[in-house]
Formats: sequence, structure tokens, C-alpha cells
Amino acid sequence: MDTLCLCNGYADGRYVLPPLPYDVAALEPLLDAETVLLHHTRHHAAYVDGANAAAAMMRQVALGELPEKAASVAAEHLAFHLAGHMLHTLYWGNLCPTPGQQPCGSLADAINTAFGSYDGFSRVFRAAAAGVQGSGWAILAKDAMSHRLVVLAAHRHQDALLPRMRPLLVCDVWEHAYYLRYHNNRAGYIDAFMNQICWHSVAKRFNHNEENNHACCK
Ligand SMILES: [Fe+2]
Repeated sequence: MDTLCLCNGYADGRYVLPPLPYDVAALEPLLDAETVLLHHTRHHAAYVDGANAAAAMMRQVALGELPEKAASVAAEHLAFHLAGHMLHTLYWGNLCPTPGQQPCGSLADAINTAFGSYDGFSRVFRAAAAGVQGSGWAILAKDAMSHRLVVLAAHRHQDALLPRMRPLLVCDVWEHAYYLRYHNNRAGYIDAFMNQICWHSVAKRFNHNEENNHACCK
């Protein structure tokens, strides 16, 4: 299974919880097994269930089985839960049991172009993640307009669904992602996160996007 593929989150007409690409204890020292287990099987799974429920409600409105006013509720719920499902699927895929990786190749070049250096990127990404008020995400994304890398901060989940922004690397800064180990020390979690990024996975996403950059112009 290609653990990077979002298609792992959908099967047989339903959203499904993709298996982790590693054991729940494999992300030490970043995260303990209990945090990973709860995060995956409770929080991520809840977004999967919520997306299925919202999609079912939407179908019921379409079939006339629910009043039209239910459509706006379903749309709000689907935006929240489906975005949560997608972001968590990306999150598990961009973490690595082996600490200390660094970006290389064309991805490293793109980081240098956008941020001057890896250290410059790291400074921006850490600060963006630390600065999210309440619950949300820091996201390294490919801006399809400029074709440059950008760092975005998103509240909740669905606020990350910016048009044509393709997420390459996502850091969950909801408290459920780190509180058992780090308590209110979000900065400590972010520092550890930065040391356990699977840059190989990020590079695969980046290179896939590169290949499809100008598909609309051909
Ligand atoms: Fe989460």
C-alpha cells in the first residue's frame, strides 16, 4: 500500500480509516504509543465517521428524504470532518520512525528558493505552528499559482482547504496530538516533530505535484 495516497481513506463507497504505516510505538521519541493510538483510533476515526454521516445526510436531502435546510448542516459537517480525515491521513504519512532526515534534491532546492535555506523554512514553519490560536495545523504547501512553496496556518481543519494549495507536509497542533506527553509545551512537540519528518514522503508528494504542474496548459 502506498501510504501517501489519500485514496487509502476511501473504499467501497465509504470513507475508511487507513492503517498506520508503522506500529503505534514506532514514533518514539516524538510520540508515545498511547498518544498515537488514541489519535488514530479515536480522533481520526471520529472524522471518518463524521464524514460518512454528513455524506449520508447530503444524499438524503438530494433524495428528498430530509428537508433542504439539512443540506447546509451536512455541508458544514462534511467540510469539517472530511478535511480532518484528509489532513490526518497526510499527517501519519509525513511522520517517520527514523529521526534526523533532511530534505534533498529538487525539494531542497524549492525550500531554498522559497525560504533561503532549510533553517529559514524551519524558523517559519515552527513559528506558524506555535502561533496557531486554539486548534489547527501548520502546512507546507505548493501554491499552484506561483508554483512556490508556502507555509500556511489553518484553524480547525477545513480552513486549510484553500483553492489549489496542495499540502506536502502537515503538523497537527490540536492538543490531542501532543498533550499526553508535552502537556502545554506545544513548542517542545513542534521541535520533536521537525526532527521526525519523513522527508522522503514529502519529496514524493512534491515530485508528484511537479509532474502535474502545468497539466492544464498542455
Ligand atoms: Fe489530530
